[in-house]
Amino acid sequence: MPVFGLVNNYIVKGFTLVAKVEKIIYFTKWTKFLTLYEIKTRITMEQCYNSNSQWSMPRIGDQAPEFRAMTTHGKLNFPGDYVGKWKILFSHPADFTPVCTTEFIAFANMQKEFEALNTQIVGLSVDSLSSHIAWVRNIKEKIEWEGSKDVEIGFPIIVDISKKVSTLYGMIMPGESNNSCIRAVFFIDPTDKIRAIIYYPLNLGRNFEEIKRVIIGLQTSDAHDVAMPANWQPGKDVVLHYPVTTDDAKARVAQEGIKCHEWYLCSKKL
Ligand code: BEZ
Repeated sequence: MPVFGLVNNYIVKGFTLVAKVEKIIYFTKWTKFLTLYEIKTRITMEQCYNSNSQWSMPRIGDQAPEFRAMTTHGKLNFPGDYVGKWKILFSHPADFTPVCTTEFIAFANMQKEFEALNTQIVGLSVDSLSSHIAWVRNIKEKIEWEGSKDVEIGFPIIVDISKKVSTLYGMIMPGESNNSCIRAVFFIDPTDKIRAIIYYPLNLGRNFEEIKRVIIGLQTSDAHDVAMPANWQPGKDVVLHYPVTTDDAKARVAQEGIKCHEWYLCSKKL
C-alpha cells in the first residue's frame, strides 16, 4: 500500500505530487471515492508537467523553450523560424469567446507597429486548427468592435490541442482553469532569451499599449545600456544604472547632460 500524505491541499505519494484536493472530506472517505477523485485530478495536474515530469514554468532570463507546432500559417519551428527577431508568444483561453475576440482585434490592429519594432507575434490556444481558422474568418467577416471591422488576423495561431506547448511554457494554471490557458505574454529577444513575462487572468483583457511599451523599453535598455523609471513612456527621460564604484558615483554627478537627484538616482534624455 503506497504511503499517501497531504501537503497544502496536494496529495503526495512519497515525494511525488499526485493530485490536488479541494475538500479534506475526500481524505476521510478514503477508499473508492478517493480513487476516482485522484484519477480525475491527476489528469489535470499532469498538464502542468513537461516531458521530464517537472513543473514547467520558464522564467525571465531563461532561453525560450524550443518546440515545433502546427499553426494557422503552417508548420512552426519556435524560436528557430524567427532568427534575429524579437518574439511575442501569447496564449488566449479559447476561440470564439468575447474577451479573446477583442484582444485579437487589438493585436491585429497593432501588428504593423510591432513589425516596425522587429517583433513577430505568435498566438496560441488549446483549440483545433479548424476552430482557429473558423474564428479568424468569423472575426473578419462578422465582427465590428470599437470602430474596427474587416480585421485580418495576420499572425499565426498555434494549435495546441495536446497542450504540449502550453505545458512547456506554463500557460495552464489549474487554479484559474484546468482546461484552457490563462492570458500569458512572453517577450523573447533576438538571442531567444525570455526578457519579460506578463500573466492576466481569464476575465481581464490585456493592455496592448503596455505590451508595446515593454518591447520598446527592453529595446531601449539594450541599445543605450540604461533603465526605465516608473511609468516610463518612449521619449521620456531614462535612468542610469546605479554606480558600482565611489569614483563612478562622483563622476556622474558632475557629468553634463545628466540630472542627478541623488548620487544613485540620475536621469538623462536620450
Ligand atoms: C473570454 O475571452 O471572454 C473568456 C474566455 C475564457 C474564459 C473567460 C472569458
